[in-house]
Amino acid sequence: MFAGVLAGWRRPGSPLAASLAAALREAVLDGRVRVGDRLPSERHLAAELAVSRGTVVAALSLLRQEGWLVTGRGSGSRVRLPRDLGERYAPLSVDGHGSLLDLRRALPAAPREIVTGAVTRALARSAGLLLESGEPGAGLPELRELIAGRHTAEGTATRPEQILVTSGARAALALLAAHLVPRRIVVENPSFFDTLTMLRRLGVRTVVARVTEEGWDGGHLAVAFREAAGGAALLTPDFQNPTGALMDARARREVAGLAARHGVTVIVDETMRDLDLRDRPEPIPRVAGAVAIGSLSKTVWGGLRAGWIRGPAELIGALLLDPVSGLHTPPPMEQLVACEILPLMDGLLDRRRSELRRQRDHLARALEADGWDFTLPPGGLALWLRLDGVSGETLASRAAEAGLSLLPGSSFSPDGTLTGRLRVPYTAPVETLDRVAGHLRRVRRP
Ligand SMILES: Cc1ncc(COP(=O)(O)O)c(C=O)c1O
Repeated sequence: MFAGVLAGWRRPGSPLAASLAAALREAVLDGRVRVGDRLPSERHLAAELAVSRGTVVAALSLLRQEGWLVTGRGSGSRVRLPRDLGERYAPLSVDGHGSLLDLRRALPAAPREIVTGAVTRALARSAGLLLESGEPGAGLPELRELIAGRHTAEGTATRPEQILVTSGARAALALLAAHLVPRRIVVENPSFFDTLTMLRRLGVRTVVARVTEEGWDGGHLAVAFREAAGGAALLTPDFQNPTGALMDARARREVAGLAARHGVTVIVDETMRDLDLRDRPEPIPRVAGAVAIGSLSKTVWGGLRAGWIRGPAELIGALLLDPVSGLHTPPPMEQLVACEILPLMDGLLDRRRSELRRQRDHLARALEADGWDFTLPPGGLALWLRLDGVSGETLASRAAEAGLSLLPGSSFSPDGTLTGRLRVPYTAPVETLDRVAGHLRRVRRP
């Protein structure tokens, strides 16, 4: 039976025991071998797979060490999930379970118990959904109410009619951009690469304002808003990606003033807002009059496609009439899962933040000891390194050859600048971050 389940397990160039262990891990992760299943004896396995018993012993011992197997006396080995898979803070891909550490995206892992529990509860009460048409609309009333309630509890009074549910923040932006069709849009340099690409594809002209760890360049903002008069601005004032910068209250007031003066619609991306890693967090003000977009993808999981647009009820109503709006709405089942998760957000966020704080500080200590230059960000998911004498592209390509994928600063730049920067997410577990620091040390001066 195992020969069938593990068909094609031999990997050219990789030792047999390691290949076998990797194949078993994958078989567990995609459900071919169930958690709790008992493995055949080593002798049986060796015969079925046509390898020596020593190979099987070595593979199982590796899996045992990693926590994939428990072996009772005389009762053989049973499959289990390693403890860190139950409460992971990084997806496997960034953990280097293969050999590649992929940190091009700053992604948290699903809080497994919470997500699977939410899916189970959502399924149990899904029958009611099937009585409805299933048409996208503005989102399930329950979910709009929960999202509005979180805004209100934070001090931004919000009615459910002011919320449109979307499948994440990028979907929210895509819908807003397609609906508003601004001729020009103010964007930050640096900013999140996907939104830059999206705007460029739509043919919207970007007007750049600089942001650093120190904050937003007021002069740039004033000029950019004037240049984009009548258009839009996309800002990330809360733990900006990639700088981690947090816009102060004065700059927020200035932005609101500039927007009013030049007739600019400000879209604030609040995807990182809840990732506040300050020792003593204080309430974060909002930019008055801005349309906000949010998402559960960084706070819960990138695979939970639930986000929102918060704006005036008239705008939400107009967006709903836009024929493309339905394309950006998550299926009702996904929304029901989000309904089950939102009431648990406070506890989930506490844990997420304390884990991220620990990881940020760990990576920062390791990189500081190696003489890297950066400012500790007050929140978000990454360190934004200042490089000296070597470009981000060069470092990123050397790192990629060594098995570590990172994005250079220029990937975040609307105008191809910021070549002296490199973004290093701290979304991986600390053991992995040690390997990241080691790779960076080696590629810095090859
Ligand atoms: C500022 C910002 N907005 C949005 C996203 C992605 O959001 P979503 O996955 O909800 O589309 C990211 C992901 O890195 C981001 O950094």
